[in-house]
Amino acid sequence: MAACLQLNAKAFRSYFPLNPVSRSVSKQLPKSGRIRCAATTPSKRYTITLLPGDGIGPEVISVATNVLKLAGSLEGIEFKFQEMPVGGAALDLTGVPLPEETLSAANKSDAVLLGAIGGYKWDKNEKHLKPETGLLQLRAGLKVFANLRPATVLPQLVDASTLKKEVAVGVDLMVVRELTGGIYFGEPRGFSTNENGEEIGFNTEVYATHEIDRIARVAFETARKRHGKLCSVDKANVLEASILWRKRVTAIASEYPDVELSHMYVDNAAMQLVRNPKQFDTIVTNNIFGDILSDEASMITGSIGMLPSASLGESGPGLFEPIHGSAPDIARQDKANPLATVLSAAMLLKYGLGEENAAKRIETAVLDTLSRGYRTGDIYSDGNKLVGCKEMGEEVLKSVDSQVPSPV
Ligand SMILES: NC(=O)c1ccc[n+]([C@@H]2O[C@H](COP(=O)([O-])OP(=O)(O)OC[C@H]3O[C@@H](n4cnc5c(N)ncnc54)[C@H](O)[C@@H]3O)[C@@H](O)[C@H]2O)c1
Repeated sequence: MAACLQLNAKAFRSYFPLNPVSRSVSKQLPKSGRIRCAATTPSKRYTITLLPGDGIGPEVISVATNVLKLAGSLEGIEFKFQEMPVGGAALDLTGVPLPEETLSAANKSDAVLLGAIGGYKWDKNEKHLKPETGLLQLRAGLKVFANLRPATVLPQLVDASTLKKEVAVGVDLMVVRELTGGIYFGEPRGFSTNENGEEIGFNTEVYATHEIDRIARVAFETARKRHGKLCSVDKANVLEASILWRKRVTAIASEYPDVELSHMYVDNAAMQLVRNPKQFDTIVTNNIFGDILSDEASMITGSIGMLPSASLGESGPGLFEPIHGSAPDIARQDKANPLATVLSAAMLLKYGLGEENAAKRIETAVLDTLSRGYRTGDIYSDGNKLVGCKEMGEEVLKSVDSQVPSPV
């Protein structure tokens, strides 16, 4: 049994050579057929591991890779892309959802860009052979403890929000969620019987000082790159773990005098997010509160096909991915919205590599493409131009291509 799960290294390498991938990158260059040269020869080089995964993953990764390459070239950045299997694609190829080679390549690279995993084909697999298990193993293997999820209502898509226009316009917030601690991992946990002989289920909300300190630093750094305001969300009126959380976040604040820190109880935060979301810039919170609040915040924007995310560790490469899944219902039909993955590539540049100018180029190009009226089906409204995944990618590339390269 174990043997059949072993990677057939030869077959694997012949399919996914461990050298730069040009296959997907060359498909969608602007119609002019060129990657424009920067004003100078590349001065910075990064290795990016591409994990297209399943369903619409390969379609959106192909678009995002081309955008990344072009935006980078205008800033004197050169990328080496290595494409590796994960999820169902890896199961089919190797028998496991996260081959060792994939994790090893990811860990050795500067950043990891993931499409999505999962699909009907593998839904009935045992837990350890599900594509989703591979994703959890990847996050654990990269030791990414901080999950950043922006929720931005783009002016062009304000009607997609479920909130009233005047509440939604201008929302631009970031939720920084602790990803590897708290009640989802705390011990003891399990099922037992209480003194009345009744069955009980129990979990433990526990945080150590170092876990709070490191997520707080990520959040302060993030707020510093945004508008300098950080709101820490907890339940310090009830939970000891939250009392420590608030104490440590307050202590770390002394390292960031330029960031304005506030605290809010989670029940109030949930309410304020739908009452007046514009009051927030950056939010930092624990694993379970972040799970709930980041979903609530992202839905303010109204469109799953637009939302990127970043997962960061203390050192090593970050993991960047759209928040949507593999959308098997529209896979291979050229219907996917690639912009969540394109914006994930912008987060990769900004938060993974510190290349803010190149990130800005991508963000600007996405806004420009939307302003020119291009829409995939999920964000389409009357009066706009309905396009598929590939054409949306072409239009974003044209927008990037029209930008002026950075001077030497
Ligand atoms: N991070 C991940 O890779 C991830 C996250 C969530 C779900 N999944 C997996 O994805 C599979 C499908 O899950 P689901 O249907 O619950 O969620 P989903 O996000 O894949 O799809 C939900 C709905 O949104 C649409 N949609 C999603 N992304 C879109 C895009 N970019 N453009 C246009 N429409 C888009 C889909 O067509 C579908 O109607 C499952 O196997 C699930 O386990 C993976």
